[in-house]
Amino acid sequence: MNVVICDDYQHMSQLAAGEFIECLQAKPSAVLGLATGSTPIGVYTHLIDQFKSGSISFAEATSFNLDEYIGLYRDHPQSYYYFMHQQLFNHVDLPGQRIFVPSGVENDYGQYCQWYEDRIAEAGGIDLQILGIGSDGHIAFNEPGTVLGSRTHVTELDQQTIDDNARFFASKADVPRRAITMGVATILEARKIMLLATGENKAVAIRDALEGPVGSECTASALQQHPDVTFYLDAAAASLLTKE
Ligand code: GLP
Repeated sequence: MNVVICDDYQHMSQLAAGEFIECLQAKPSAVLGLATGSTPIGVYTHLIDQFKSGSISFAEATSFNLDEYIGLYRDHPQSYYYFMHQQLFNHVDLPGQRIFVPSGVENDYGQYCQWYEDRIAEAGGIDLQILGIGSDGHIAFNEPGTVLGSRTHVTELDQQTIDDNARFFASKADVPRRAITMGVATILEARKIMLLATGENKAVAIRDALEGPVGSECTASALQQHPDVTFYLDAAAASLLTKE
């Protein structure tokens, strides 16, 4: 795995956006795997700037988001559908019919999760996947204990994740307890992956992901099995790494 230690959040966002832009320029019809959370916002801002200056277009691209809270409608300000439109989709030319964000309000998730997997396969698989990481080492919403062979599924959120994400909600009681998420195996099928992390509260998760054993206690550790992953970190997130 490649590890890039960046000066700060701005630098990380700029470098990761640079890799993203290269991919999209090389393949305008790229299938993009997108993440929520506060960490990728800087990358999305760069992408919007590059779109506005005419350097990139999303007109031929397709996007798949990683996850969504169960119970939140698309117009809920904390839904990931809403977040992605605020942070990226409303500002670029990605066609609405090729934007896929998992739905949080389905009746039959058995069927819906398979439908989502089928749409990814039909699009030809994900070319470039952006990931953040939870402080418990989760990628998307693959919480500790999730089998590494998992596909898109519904999951219970860990208390640590509920606590971490409570900052976006009026109170902790408002944080949904369940989510739909791409599985670890779904994510590992992306041809290229970049994981972004800043701050000391991610340092343990980053150490476990990069240097720990591959296992479901830190689902990000599964990335060790992927041939093309780059971690973009700041010094605080990288502070517990011991290997060169
Ligand atoms: C949520 C998302 C993850 C994301 C994580 C980290 O749990 N499901 O995909 O990586 O938040 O968020 P942040 O970047 O705000 O620390």
